[in-house]
Amino acid sequence: MITMEDIIREGHPSLRKVAEEVAMPPSEEDKEILGSLLEYVKNSQDPETAQKYGLRTGIGLAAPQIDVLKRMLAVHVTDPKGNLYSYALFNPKIVSHSVEKSYLTSGEGCLSVDRHVPGYVPRYARITVKGIDIDGNPVKVRLKGMPAIVFQHELDHLNGIMFYDHINNENPMSPIPDATPVDR
Ligand code: NI
Repeated sequence: MITMEDIIREGHPSLRKVAEEVAMPPSEEDKEILGSLLEYVKNSQDPETAQKYGLRTGIGLAAPQIDVLKRMLAVHVTDPKGNLYSYALFNPKIVSHSVEKSYLTSGEGCLSVDRHVPGYVPRYARITVKGIDIDGNPVKVRLKGMPAIVFQHELDHLNGIMFYDHINNENPMSPIPDATPVDR
C-alpha cells in the first residue's frame, strides 16, 4: 500500500515532468499501480486507517506523485449532495469543457505540498473526461463542481503542473472573471 513515504513532495523533479501514456491493454503492473492510487485515497479518508498509517487525507492522487511518470490518476470525492465520485483511470483526458470557470473558495491543497498556499485556482466549471478504467474499458464522465475541480487538479499532475501555478501571484484572492465559487 502507498503511504506518505511514497509520495514525493514539491521540489522533486518528477512533479514537473509530462507523464507518458499507459500502453493498452494495461499490464498487471500498471493495474496494480492504478489500484493502489485509489486505495490510498480511500484509506486516507478512513479515520482509523489514516491514523494507523499516518496518511494525510486526500481526495485525489496521480501516479507522478508516487514517482511513476505514467498517465494514471484516482479521484474519490463526495459532492455536497452526498453523491460519491470514485474513479481510477488510465490515460484520462478532457474532451470538452465549459467556457464558465469555477474555483474553490478555500483554495486547493496537494499531498505533494506540505504547506498552505492561499489563492483562487481557476478551473473549468464543467468537464467531460474520457479514459480507460482498471479493467481496460473506455469510460466517459461528465463532472461539475468539486469533482470537476479535483479531476483537473489531478490531470495537471500528469502534465507537470502544480495547482499554485494557476494562482495570480500579485493578488491571489482577486475575483476570477466568469467563475462560480465552489464551497467544499
Ligand atoms: Ni496534487
